[in-house]
Formats: sequence, C-alpha cells, structure tokens
Amino acid sequence: MAGDSEGLTDLHSHLVPGVDDGSRTLLEAMEGMGKLEGAGVRRIVTTPHLDGSLTHDPEGFEARLEEMDRGWSSLVQRAEKEFPEVELRRGFEVMLDVPDPDLSDGRLYLAETRFVLVEWPWLGVPPGTLQVLTRLKDAGATPVLAHPERYRGLEELDLANGWRKMGALLQVNYGSLVGRYGETPQKRAFTLLERGWVDLFSSDFHGRPHLTPDLEEAREVMSEMGGDEQFEILSGVNTFRLLCGEDPVPVPALVLERGIREKLRAFFR
Ligand SMILES: [Fe+2]
Repeated sequence: MAGDSEGLTDLHSHLVPGVDDGSRTLLEAMEGMGKLEGAGVRRIVTTPHLDGSLTHDPEGFEARLEEMDRGWSSLVQRAEKEFPEVELRRGFEVMLDVPDPDLSDGRLYLAETRFVLVEWPWLGVPPGTLQVLTRLKDAGATPVLAHPERYRGLEELDLANGWRKMGALLQVNYGSLVGRYGETPQKRAFTLLERGWVDLFSSDFHGRPHLTPDLEEAREVMSEMGGDEQFEILSGVNTFRLLCGEDPVPVPALVLERGIREKLRAFFR
C-alpha cells in the first residue's frame, strides 16, 4: 500500500456543493469537511448521486458530468486552502435504477480505482440483484454496495451474502449503528457484523448544518459492543485499502454478549 495510512478514510459522502441532496453551498461543504476531519478522517472520497439510467442517455450524462466537474473543481480549490491535511478524492454513488448501467467512464469509480459505489433504487431491493451485480463484475467493476442494512425487503439477510458471493463489497453507514435510520437498520447492521459480512464503514454524510457524520458515536457504540478491532479494520484498514485499489481484508465476526442488544437501545438516537 502506498501513502500514509494514519487516520481514517471515508468513501461515501455528499459534499460536492449544489449537485444533489448533500451540501448546498461551498460553505456547507467546508463545514462538512471540518466535521469529518474533527472525527479523525484524513482521506475523503466524496460521492454525489448519479442515476445509472443516465448512462444510457449520452447528452444527459455529459451534462450531468460537466455539472459535477464544475462543482468538484470549486470544492477541491477551496478544500486545498482550508484543509491542506485532508486528501480529497471523487467518485459517485450510482443508483442501479436500470439493470445494465454503462460504467465505462472512469469518473464513476472511487478515486480512479476499479471500485464503484452503488445503491439499489429508492431503498428497496429490485428483482434480479444477483444478475445485475454479475454484469458489473463481468464489465471489470467491483461494486461496493452502499448501506445494505437500509433496504426494505432485506428481511432475508442471506441475499446480502449472495451479493458478497458475487464479489460485491458491503458498506454499512455509521448512522445505522447509532439508530439514525431507525431500529430495523440498526439491528440489521449488527446482525451483518455478527456474521462477518461487512467489508467497510463510511459516513454517507450529507454535509448540511443540522447533520453529523455519526462517526464518533458509532466508534463509541462499537467499543461498547466489544468491536474495537472490527471498527479499526472497517473504518481504517479496509477503506484505505480500497482507496489504494486493494481488496479489503476479512473482518472477524462480531461476538455480541447475551443481553447486549438491550444496551444497544441506549445508543438509539
Ligand atoms: Fe449516499
């Protein structure tokens, strides 16, 4: 691995100003970077939303990418001045609203690696997810599936293991661990951790004044649950490995003591 691995790496956030439901202005984006840096993040790959279907509309796609490029250059220029210690890179969060998005444009990937952050549309699980992921793998991409714990219809967690077996990586949000999205995603996140199926954590931070990256709270919850080692691998080691284009290391299954789920409630936001 190249580079300095000190501090944490975050591979999922919405800090490019004015292009999605994340930061609206450069000022909000700078405040957002400040919150991530304050929580110990030293490398950020920020990932604006992009509809996969747009990749089939060349004109619409180019217009959207140009808009992103403009927002990105303003962000990076300002960030270099205000946060010289933070490495800032780009990617996208590609919504798989079509089963066969064209991922040939290198800008779609996390920091020019082969890893691409993807999500199922509208927080549901469409039919044929295994085929969709296989197609992406066959095209040379390694899908990193954003927040598997948040999808409706994932009562059957074995499907998530099917995605892993297809070669997809699973990224859990810090917010899920502390109950930001409700009790079900929180429980699912911990069940995935108990099975050792999570590959990395990231913030999915939307860079607005009323929000936080939930990172410090998540670190605290993981520690309470006996998951210091898992936290270190999921937040520090594996996110850095992906940034360097390397596969994540396996993560030991989290062993929760009996009755500890009651304790988890105390961390519910
Ligand atoms: Fe996101």
